[in-house]
Amino acid sequence: MDPRLLFFVLTIAAVHCKDWWQSATFYQVYPRSFKDSDNDGTGDLQGIIQKLDYLVETGVQAVWLSPIYQSPMVDGGYDISDYRAIAPEYGTLEDFKQLVQSAHDKGLKVILDFVPNHTSDQHEWFQKSVSREAGYEDYYLWVDGKVGDDGQIVPPNNWLSLWRNSGWEWNEVRQQYYLHQFSSKQPDLNYRSASVHNEMKDTMKFWLDLGVDGFRVDAVPHIYEDAQLRDEPLSNNSGVDPNNYDYLDHVYTKDQFETFQLIYDWRDFIDNYTATAGGDTRIFMTESATSIENVILYYGTATGSRLGAHFSFNFYLLGADESYKPADICSSVVLWAIDLPSIYTANWLTGNHDNHRVATRVGPRNVDGYNMLISIMDGVTITYMGEEIGQENGQVTCAQGHDPSAIGNCSTFDDLTRDFERTPFQWDDSVNAGFNEGAETWLPVSDKYNETNLADQQKNNKSHYHTYQKLMKLKQTIANQVANETTGFTIGGCDANVLFYEKQFDDLKYRLVFNLGPQQETTYLDAKDRYTVLVSSVNSTYETGQIIEDSQIVLAPGDSVIVTNQ
Ligand code: NOJ
Ligand code: MG
Repeated sequence: MDPRLLFFVLTIAAVHCKDWWQSATFYQVYPRSFKDSDNDGTGDLQGIIQKLDYLVETGVQAVWLSPIYQSPMVDGGYDISDYRAIAPEYGTLEDFKQLVQSAHDKGLKVILDFVPNHTSDQHEWFQKSVSREAGYEDYYLWVDGKVGDDGQIVPPNNWLSLWRNSGWEWNEVRQQYYLHQFSSKQPDLNYRSASVHNEMKDTMKFWLDLGVDGFRVDAVPHIYEDAQLRDEPLSNNSGVDPNNYDYLDHVYTKDQFETFQLIYDWRDFIDNYTATAGGDTRIFMTESATSIENVILYYGTATGSRLGAHFSFNFYLLGADESYKPADICSSVVLWAIDLPSIYTANWLTGNHDNHRVATRVGPRNVDGYNMLISIMDGVTITYMGEEIGQENGQVTCAQGHDPSAIGNCSTFDDLTRDFERTPFQWDDSVNAGFNEGAETWLPVSDKYNETNLADQQKNNKSHYHTYQKLMKLKQTIANQVANETTGFTIGGCDANVLFYEKQFDDLKYRLVFNLGPQQETTYLDAKDRYTVLVSSVNSTYETGQIIEDSQIVLAPGDSVIVTNQ
């Protein structure tokens, strides 16, 4: 193991004055599953409006809405058929205006999902492009087929869809193939068309003018592809069949030079918007599941000569599961600390709508420890709805499934589906967990809602929710700390079972200790300091406000505690 990974210390000269987003928590709402106000089985904007007070009470600063636009919902709204209309099942533009107004009145920012890589095949641009209507011919990536060995027309090259098989779909009307990196109902837009650029900027402006505070940009690495349409080399990954996306090394369909330039241009656009319109910084967060070097390049160049995203998602803790040891966490934390230029802001998350629930992956007893970790570390925290109560995966059968990356093949459904993490939010123990008033829900409500629901946790003083609320307060306290000389952090215990992470401001310390091992452990604090418990995990014996005796903390497996020497 790299010796730095055993014990890592980062000390920097004190810097203050953070912009609003740099120490914020962004709460991700998957609108279909948050709150169904009209009892039609699908969550909606009025449902979100009803729950804004809940978000304020929880202590987050911004809400990021997964797509709310008009869509045939093949991919839960990531297949947009009109970038300027609200999905009718979610409400109207008036509802949206009310949502923004009401959120702003309560001090919450609103971030929209922006999906530039592809539209729905039901978008009028696609329909017009299919029929070669003037001005729309090149909105998508249309290519003639090749004549195959047997005289049949075959796709122009070997590019694959992320969701298996060729990335090319034949269109009978146009007699050409179009590219789709996701489902065939999500044709990729062609960014070599100037009109597409203009449409996208106009779209962003439309929503910015309605008061949104920024965008989460979807599927960024996939925006451009090689203009010469070169075949991609084989990855030589073992055990991967030729129709699997991982069969190829995506040197021509991911992270192209032009994609970085586009993100930098969009950042200029959004910064100009803020400068002209006034008000708080509008932000840009990019979804880029790619190498650390490229994730960082989406933030901008090393010197900041070109800026890209305010932050590009850190997916390095999404792999956390029950087998994770401190060493696994340390390597991600240290990697980011070393690789991310200090001009940029880190971000931390453990879950989203594309990955299994944290509680299911890491086990319920470790939920609080991970929430502590992603809140105490410097930078932005992103919480997928339900992670604050430790909601587990729901149960969805193949017949009930919706996720296009998994439906169609029941033998692999359980392994591939993202429906498990998309079941409705568990508000209380009433019918349908309080998601609605009893109408059949678009995905089944988890049968664990009696055990895990918000109302219960609000009543119970020791609950994931109360722990999370304390963490949100603590995050803001830490963000407002002023250091006269130095600030920094130490991470250690990386080769053992108890991870510790300590944030320091001159002599003031906040220390997280988290037992990821199978046995009870004792961990020791600096004897010259007197420590007080700030937050503790639900199963631990420690209480907020308790003074630590003998400079030692005893932790059962999964227990975690944050203490301070204040
Ligand atoms: C990433 C989104 O998070 C995911 O849900 C979606 O299926 C793909 N991008 C395609 O838009
Ligand atoms: Mg509804």
